Amino acid sequence: MPTTIFDLIGEENLRTLVDRFYDLVFEHEQISHLFKNDKESIKEKQRLFLTQFLGGPALYSERFGHPRLRARHMPHTITEEDAVAWLSCMSKAIATLHIDEALKDELFKRFVPTAMFMVNTGEEH
Ligand code: HEM
Repeated sequence: MPTTIFDLIGEENLRTLVDRFYDLVFEHEQISHLFKNDKESIKEKQRLFLTQFLGGPALYSERFGHPRLRARHMPHTITEEDAVAWLSCMSKAIATLHIDEALKDELFKRFVPTAMFMVNTGEEH
């Protein structure tokens, strides 16, 4: 089987990433208001999701079914600015990991199109 980003990063780094990411999100003045559920349960869901998003076992789908990520974000109004804020938290969280710089870049790039795809309000083009 080909090596995945999940394999390269490993479970422990992924756990650290998700922890640091939501600590930043919950303090972010632009987007913290969107997150209403318990921080620890949001972290757990995201850890399951990112495991499969990065090529590891489909832990999220086993528990919650098909991700339908855009549909699941629809109850929240997400602007382009929100997506940029989300990505900046992710970028800061990635920067704290002890992994290769090239792997950090590769990891961050995975999130950009998905974050922009979650934008569900603002000007139509
Ligand atoms: C673009 C900016 C984004 C915003 C503002 C945003 C916001 C949110 C909010 C408010 C929730 C619900 C949290 C709660 O339960 O209180 C959520 C859930 C979630 N988000 Fe995002 N999100 C964004 C991008 C992303 C991206 C890029 C990913 C994945 C790469 C992602 C993955 C998830 C997952 C897996 C859940 C849990 C879905 C569920 O099962 O309910 N989000 N997000």
